Amino acid sequence: MAGQEKNIFLRVTASHPLRKRIQEAATVLRRGGLVAFPTETVYGLGANALDKDAVRGIFEVKQRPTWDPLIVHVDSVESARSYARHLAPVFDKLAARFWPGPLTLVVEKNPVIPDEVTAGRDTVALRISRHRVPAMLLEELRAPIAAPSANTFGSPSPTRAEHVFKDLGDRVDLIVDAGPTTLGLESTVVDLTRPTPVILRPGALCREDIESVIGPVELAPGVMDEVAHEGLAGPGMTTRHYSPKTRMELFDGPLHEIVSAMVARAADLQSRNITAGALVSDEMVVSMQPHTDYLSAFGKWGHWLGYAQRLFAALRALDSYGLVVILCPLPPSEGIGLAIRDRLQRAAGRPTPASGP
Ligand code: TXA
Ligand code: MG
Repeated sequence: MAGQEKNIFLRVTASHPLRKRIQEAATVLRRGGLVAFPTETVYGLGANALDKDAVRGIFEVKQRPTWDPLIVHVDSVESARSYARHLAPVFDKLAARFWPGPLTLVVEKNPVIPDEVTAGRDTVALRISRHRVPAMLLEELRAPIAAPSANTFGSPSPTRAEHVFKDLGDRVDLIVDAGPTTLGLESTVVDLTRPTPVILRPGALCREDIESVIGPVELAPGVMDEVAHEGLAGPGMTTRHYSPKTRMELFDGPLHEIVSAMVARAADLQSRNITAGALVSDEMVVSMQPHTDYLSAFGKWGHWLGYAQRLFAALRALDSYGLVVILCPLPPSEGIGLAIRDRLQRAAGRPTPASGP
């Protein structure tokens, strides 16, 4: 591969990244380059957030619409404060409890953050990742790093360095490869500029955990799976997103109902010579195997962290087999299930009825 000839992969271990290699990556950022790197959620595509030209490069490489603002990664709560204005008291509570971690806070921005980063908005999305690589990279660069997910706009987020290369190739200058990410789903994005905080994007940090610290929060219209709304509060929350090219069909309800519906559908497709694959729990493997061309198992039903962790990689894999349909079960909407449902429904590009009480 061309990228490997150019050797854009910089391999480090996730627990103890070699500082010399991270310094190399920081040098690329300092010169205005683009560096993809892991976080605990998904891989990000980073540029020096204070370098407008570099930031424009992110939009070009990702083919991201210019109206969709980027997340800014910072190294500490103090620097987060320095890029914000008029912070509400909930900021301190959430930052103290969940940073570093899979939480992104939208706050009023300080003018030092370029409009290119925030797509002209007067708010900025800030995050402190708990992964060692971005932590060291920020320490070396001494500037904030703008980093959206390192995928082509609209495709599933990358949870491995290979996914980044598959989407973006050597249009990025460097891919820091520290192996698969641990959480597999993006951070939860919470807007703190409203009277009541609003979850713009459910993610790896659960709504319940957030509410246990600051009380009730709202969900932006379109987040809950029922209806695809126009004019979504989260600028990046377009209806079809995180999508494989293959058509997806989703199945909802208690496990036994999902299994019988998925098996029946797979058998029906098979009888018409329509190739199908499925994302399944371990319990479903035996009954689904005879009727599908490819299966990807995420672990036991109810172990939603495993589903979250494998979701995007499984969708990418299933998408590469030239299937006509991918069948997928929906988890209930509690805990991280809310974010998994949200991603699956966006991937499928259409709403599915919500799970029962
Ligand atoms: O886990 C993650 O959050 C990963 C890692 C790399 O940090 N990043 C990520 O970034 O998922 P991205 O750009 O793919 O998603 C960020 C979301 C988008 O939906 C974007 O519209 C929203 O955050 N966002 C960014 N800035 C915003 C702002 N000022 N106001 C409202 N939404 C904003
Ligand atoms: Mg993204």
